[in-house]
Amino acid sequence: MIDGKKVLFSGMQATGTLTIGNYLGALKNWVSLSEEYECFYSVVDLHSITVRQDPAELRRRARALLTLYIAAGLDPKKNCIYYQSHVSGHAELAWILNCFTYMGELNRMTQFKDKSAKHADNINAGLFTYPVLMAADILLYQADVVPVGIDQMQHLEITRDIAQRFNAIYGDVFTIPEPYIGKVGAKIMSLQDPAKKMSKSDENPNASIYLMDDPDTIMRKFKRAVTDSEACVRYTDEQPGIKNLIDIYSACTGKKPEEVEREFDGKGYGDFKTAVGEAAVSVLKPVQERFAELEKDKAYIDSVIKENAEKAGYFAQKTLRKVQKKVGFPEKIR
Ligand code: TYM
Repeated sequence: MIDGKKVLFSGMQATGTLTIGNYLGALKNWVSLSEEYECFYSVVDLHSITVRQDPAELRRRARALLTLYIAAGLDPKKNCIYYQSHVSGHAELAWILNCFTYMGELNRMTQFKDKSAKHADNINAGLFTYPVLMAADILLYQADVVPVGIDQMQHLEITRDIAQRFNAIYGDVFTIPEPYIGKVGAKIMSLQDPAKKMSKSDENPNASIYLMDDPDTIMRKFKRAVTDSEACVRYTDEQPGIKNLIDIYSACTGKKPEEVEREFDGKGYGDFKTAVGEAAVSVLKPVQERFAELEKDKAYIDSVIKENAEKAGYFAQKTLRKVQKKVGFPEKIR
């Protein structure tokens, strides 16, 4: 608890270009939860170097992502928006938690298996212990709730296991976090292969709607989206392409999937795809416009970066000191 409010933590990687999946599965929920909780939203750049990055590009993307958090509607006076690398407590706690995590647990992580298959030439120890750093992010702020898409659930589970293990030894040190998964949009699929998650790193640009795509591109990509030959708009696993488009439309408009089925009863896929495209444009356009304005205000963004890193650092230190004491590190002599 901070000032009587429960704590929320979440983060995103600044690798690749953000997709509408990141927006509908995470960022949009962050905004809706931001009044109710004391929120920490991090640009998790330590996680990003588990795969090779071009340094200048990583810096540029990280700043763009931080700006995007604000453009999406997070007020940096009320929400702590900061770079993970500016708060050394993340790496320090991750080390300690590494000593409370088993190789067998990490071996089971599906993201590790996927990423090591993709980057077979660079299966580094950081990629393997990635979930421990994620646990450190969350536990450092004593987070009660962590809004994420479905793909991060396994990492949330291991975070809870590590925290419970630590608490069983040392007493109630960490708050046990709960995941928050949105009702719709928690797993947006590729537009070209609805069996696959929409991903920042997909090589086919037509598979994803990027947050910065212009309206024409968005409309064109939806028109090309892979569907089926059923010719009816139904929310069913037998029609994964259409189901995914309904998910996107529902998440953009707030309409329930049943309402969407009724709205497009008897209409063709052409009309439906146009409507999905228009709904996505109307959600993304204001974010893009605000982003363009904010990007120009260098001094303002710099001040957000500085002030919020200090705020995050303050809360991180509180937990870190407690943990260091528990495990037996000597107190610093001041
Ligand atoms: P990342 O950067 O891959 O994704 C950021 C958020 O977007 C969600 N997401 C999706 N949601 C719905 N449909 C999709 N197709 C889709 N793709 C991505 C993700 O679930 C995530 O919520 N390891 C994390 C970042 C992280 C983190 C944390 C998150 C580091 N530390 C602590 C929460 C708490 C990641 O790589 O997310």
